Amino acid sequence: MGTKHLYIETYGCQMNEYDSDRIKNALDAEPTDDPKKADIIIVNTCAIREKADQKAFSGLGKYKSIKANKPDVIVGISGCVAQLYGDTLLKKIPHLDFVLGTRAIPKLPEIISNIESQKRRTVETSYDLEELFEVEPYHKRGKVTAFVSVQQGCNKRCTYCIVPQVRGDEVNRPLPDILKETTNLIEKGVKEITFIGQTVNSWKENGYKFGDLIRAAGEIEDLERIRFTTSYPRDITKRMIDAMKEVPQVCHHLHLPVQSGSNKVLSNMKRTYTREWYVDTIARLKDAVPDITISTDIIIGFPGETDRDFQETMSLMREIEFESSYSFKFSPRPGTPAAEYEKEQTVDPDIASARLSELQAFQKDITEKKNLSRVGHIEEVLVEGESRNDPNFLSGRTDHNRILNFKGTKDLVGKTVQVRVTEGLLNSLRGELVK
Ligand code: 5AD
Repeated sequence: MGTKHLYIETYGCQMNEYDSDRIKNALDAEPTDDPKKADIIIVNTCAIREKADQKAFSGLGKYKSIKANKPDVIVGISGCVAQLYGDTLLKKIPHLDFVLGTRAIPKLPEIISNIESQKRRTVETSYDLEELFEVEPYHKRGKVTAFVSVQQGCNKRCTYCIVPQVRGDEVNRPLPDILKETTNLIEKGVKEITFIGQTVNSWKENGYKFGDLIRAAGEIEDLERIRFTTSYPRDITKRMIDAMKEVPQVCHHLHLPVQSGSNKVLSNMKRTYTREWYVDTIARLKDAVPDITISTDIIIGFPGETDRDFQETMSLMREIEFESSYSFKFSPRPGTPAAEYEKEQTVDPDIASARLSELQAFQKDITEKKNLSRVGHIEEVLVEGESRNDPNFLSGRTDHNRILNFKGTKDLVGKTVQVRVTEGLLNSLRGELVK
């Protein structure tokens, strides 16, 4: 058989995107954008909310007819939904050939070859697998940004969250491995690295802490920008803040999910900090890095959330004025403590929807206001590629993680340029190149 073609559909977070790229490399197959041309089809799934996990099933449903027409096609599910439901998926989905858990990517070649030789459907969802980080991700030629995973799993026990169940306990990757993967990417032309982990700043390994990782990355030649996500508030230490202040490549943006502005709700979520502590932490960050921008995540309608709790969240939104925020309606996940609370303290779905709309309308105004306030400023932009909507425009991000589009030619891709902002829109900025 000649080169195999792989089609992979990805849902969810950066870790899933990263894992999809690892799957591409693990298989040594040619990625294709057309599932009809594929020999292997994989849906890499997200279980964070019920909606996301339903997407996995409708995603897989699309490939039923392809499999019916071409029985040799191998169809698999990977990621968090695969880990969550395991072998029940094989029963539920007759055209499925394998279920690959979140820690099993290095096993994939073996699984595929077993299916080919023995036509046996396979489930691999063990947590005891070694060589967790073994397969490095596929890197698309010419791409100037990349993720590097520094950790798998999570040791926090937020009562709403399914992640510890589907990604296991926290395992931190050794510093030399992280630096090696980063250096390899730089050699391929990457200029900006985003370190990723479920609670990235809780990373610690062999006596090193997260601040040391930032400093070590700062020593890598030709690495122009360092980002990391997602940070957990309680793991923000002085060592980390000092590193952010002193390492010039670190971008001045932090994603710091607060989830709620009510201490009662935060406590029921087991977030381990209070509103006051969070506000103080932002003050410490701004003290060290005055122009830092903060984005956040909010859950609306957590069991027992009263109107007063919601008003506290709104007052926090007004107090901090986040650069942007992702907000979600609470979704009960199987096996989590909050799914139990939900049975007794459900927030009326209409009330939750109204609260969500109110919060999102407020955020929209703030984001627009902040984007407008950049007009006239000169921003440094790392050019990532042509703009999606217009090939005459280039697109990149500012230090503060805003998208900035401007007229320019393709030879600027990969360069850091100065752009004067001329327009502030809701989701991006527009500007013109400064000579
Ligand atoms: N319901 C709704 N939102 C959730 N999140 C995590 N678990 C749930 C849940 N059960 C949100 C949190 C988290 C983001 C990635 O998803 O805000 O920060």
